[in-house]
Amino acid sequence: MAGTVSIEAMGGPTLGVCVGRVDEDDGARSVGLDDCADGENGDCKKPMGATTEGLIYVNPEGPMAQPIPDKSALQVRDTFSRMGMNDRETVALIGGGHAFGKTHGPCTTEGAQGISPGQTELEGLDPDMDAWKGKCGTGSGADTWTSGFEGPWTVNPIQWDNSYFTTLVGHNWTNSTGPGGKQQWHSSEKPQGLGAFGGSEEIMMLTSDVALLNDPMYLDIVNEFAGDSAALDEAFAAAWHKLTTSAFGNDDNARCTGAAPYVASPAEEAAVLSTSAASGLLPSCMMGFLLAVSVLALN
Ligand code: HEM
Repeated sequence: MAGTVSIEAMGGPTLGVCVGRVDEDDGARSVGLDDCADGENGDCKKPMGATTEGLIYVNPEGPMAQPIPDKSALQVRDTFSRMGMNDRETVALIGGGHAFGKTHGPCTTEGAQGISPGQTELEGLDPDMDAWKGKCGTGSGADTWTSGFEGPWTVNPIQWDNSYFTTLVGHNWTNSTGPGGKQQWHSSEKPQGLGAFGGSEEIMMLTSDVALLNDPMYLDIVNEFAGDSAALDEAFAAAWHKLTTSAFGNDDNARCTGAAPYVASPAEEAAVLSTSAASGLLPSCMMGFLLAVSVLALN
């Protein structure tokens, strides 16, 4: 709901929101999501939703932190298909999601993200007061460190548009080490986006974004969305609704403000049920939308 409201607040297309999903009795469908059950961490297989423990989809720097876009594209297709998403839905979700917000990683200070609530308790500190106090500069605002990448994807990161796609195809991208010490991609033309905390900031891309240029099937869709924002609107609204409602299945408890929950075909349902990725791993991205609308809109 928070994500959908944020999209609407920034002018994005949605099909409404559904609430009322009944929690599982015992969380059994999430067993196996914690650990890399099969495959090396960084290349985790089903039932893991993500390739890497602790991440949502794939390593943004590229497989095993190697900035190789065509290998990243293979992992993107693999993880999104585990959530029942086809290529068009995948491209719409990534580029529509990254129409908003920014990455946060402005320095290389050791432990810049601060310590987690669990760690604060272990160290005898107060989890409410001392958790996540960043060690980069002031530790918050422009100094916030979450992923270690730094920069926005679009000219105006608090407004819905298709400029992720026009920017992606409109520049040449080269990888280099960003201010947070991670491999990210920049253009020699230095396109600028609105700074989250005033002024402007250079637009960047992740390896998993540049991956969409390196796969012929993804590239066709990127070019379509760059040239046709109405096509992006339609595809993103449907894919977001599917991502956020498919776990309802035929649940009678769904209460929706707009369209009914997405009901997967038997084949899609098997894929979604076997990973539970769409439901179990979504909250971090929803947090992204909340942060995008609340942090950026204040400036
Ligand atoms: C290949 C898949 C994806 C990867 C690797 C990825 C990676 C990332 C990373 C590294 C960040 C920066 C986090 C931070 O520094 O705080 C981020 C932010 C964000 N992502 Fe994604 N993402 C992916 C897909 C998506 C999707 C599908 C959506 C939503 C539909 C989405 C929405 C967002 C938003 C809104 C932010 C901005 C958060 C903020 O401003 O604080 N992402 N993503």
